[in-house]
Amino acid sequence: MNNKSDFPSDFIWGVATSSYQIEGAADADGRTASIWDTFCRTPGKVAGGDTGERACEHYYRFREDVRLLADLGIKHYRFSIAWPRIYPEKGKLNREGLDFYRSLLNELKECGIQPLVTVYHWDLPQWIQDEGGWTNREAVDHYMEYARTLFEEFGREVPMWNTHNEPWCAAFLGYGVGVHAPGHRNWREAIAAAHHILLSHGLAVQAYREMGLTGQIGITLNLDHNDPASDREEDLEARRRHDGYLNRWFLDPVFKGAYPQDMMEWFLPHVGEYDFIQPGDLETIHEPGDLLGINYYSRGVIRSGTGHSMLLTDYVLPENSEVTDMGWEIHPESLHRLMQRLRKDYTSIPIFITENGAATKDVLENGKVEDEGRIRYVKAHLEQSLKFIRDGGNLKGYYLWSFLDNFEWAFGYEKRFGMVHVDYETQVRTPKASAYWYRDVMRRNGIAD
Ligand code: NOJ
Repeated sequence: MNNKSDFPSDFIWGVATSSYQIEGAADADGRTASIWDTFCRTPGKVAGGDTGERACEHYYRFREDVRLLADLGIKHYRFSIAWPRIYPEKGKLNREGLDFYRSLLNELKECGIQPLVTVYHWDLPQWIQDEGGWTNREAVDHYMEYARTLFEEFGREVPMWNTHNEPWCAAFLGYGVGVHAPGHRNWREAIAAAHHILLSHGLAVQAYREMGLTGQIGITLNLDHNDPASDREEDLEARRRHDGYLNRWFLDPVFKGAYPQDMMEWFLPHVGEYDFIQPGDLETIHEPGDLLGINYYSRGVIRSGTGHSMLLTDYVLPENSEVTDMGWEIHPESLHRLMQRLRKDYTSIPIFITENGAATKDVLENGKVEDEGRIRYVKAHLEQSLKFIRDGGNLKGYYLWSFLDNFEWAFGYEKRFGMVHVDYETQVRTPKASAYWYRDVMRRNGIAD
C-alpha cells in the first residue's frame, strides 16, 4: 500500500444515476409523461428508437439495486427525482410518487448509504412544456412548488442536494441545438430557458435555508477546460466564446451576480432583447450555495469555424488523442486545470465531482466484463483529483458516472457508462471489473494499482 495515493479521511466516494435514465415504469402509480418520453417517441431523435419506458426497471428493482450498491461498498449515492411522478398534473401532488422515493431513501438508510438528491435532471413534466417549458417564467413557480415539496418531505433526511444538473444541457441542447428534449432550435428560447433555470436555482437555495434545513445545497454544472486549436487570433477568440457559452454563462451569474458582457453582446442578435431578465433576478441567481457540483468528462479544443453556427466554432480532436466510446478526448490534466481555475476565479466553497466516467465498449463474457478502459480513465482522473487536493484545493468528493449502464439520452442504450453491466432483455446486473476495482479504491481511501 502506498500512502502517497491516500485521500483525506472524510473524502466522499460515491456513484451517480438519474431518474429517467434508470427508472423505467413510465406509467406507473400516476406518473405522466416527461419531455423525454415525448422526445423519444419522435422519430429520429434517439438512436435505435430507444426510450426510457423500461430502462433498468429500477423503479421495480430498487431494493435489489440498493443491496448491490451496498455489496459493492458504496456509501454515497447521487440520484434524481422524477418531477412527473411528484406533480403529474398542474397543482396535483401525487403521494404515490413521493412514496417511491421514501421507500428508496429508507432502503438506502438501512444499508448505510448517504443520498445526494438532484431535484431536476432533465425530466420536465410534459404539461409544463405545453405551457412553454423553461422558456416560460411560470416554470420557475412550478419548480419552486416541486422543490419545496421535496424539501418538506425529505429535507431532514437528505444531507446533500443539487438544485439542477447541467443547466447548459437542459437549456442549450434542449432549446437551442435541439438534440435533447424538447428538441427546439431557437437561441432566444435557449437563453431564456437557461435564465429561468438559474433563477429557480437561486430561489431554491433561499427556500431551503428559509425552511431551516441544515444540509448542503448547490448546483451541478457541466464544465470543461478548453484550449485553442492554434494561437491564431480567431482561434483564441473562438475558444473564449466557447468558454463563455459553456462555462462562464453559468459560473459568472451564480458566483459573481452578472452574465459575462462579451457573451451578452454575442448572443444579442439571436435574443433580440433580454426582456426575460427582470430587475432583481441576478441578485437571486447570485447564490453559490454550500457546494459546487462539477460534471467533467473531457476538454474542448476549439477553433474558429462554422460547425456550431451560432458560436462560429468547431471542436477539434487533436491528433493521436485517446477517446472514449463517446468519441470524447480523454484528458485528465484538464480536470485539474478546470478545478484550479474555479478556485482562482470563482470560489473556495467545497467542490464535488458529481459525475466523471467513461463509456466503453463492454463485452459480457462468461459472467465477466473486463472494462480496463474505464478503470484507466477513472484512475487517471482520481490522480488529478488528488493532485488538486494536495495543491490545497477544496475537493470533497467524487461520484462515478454511473452505477448502472443506462439510457444515455439521444444515444439510447448503445453507450454504456455503468460500473455494473445491465442486460436489457433479462435485467440481470453484472458488476464489471471496474466495480471491484472501485470498491478497493474506496476501501483503501486511495488509488489502487
Ligand atoms: C452528464 C449527464 O448528467 C448524464 O445524465 C449523462 O448520462 C452523462 N453526462 C454522460 O453523458
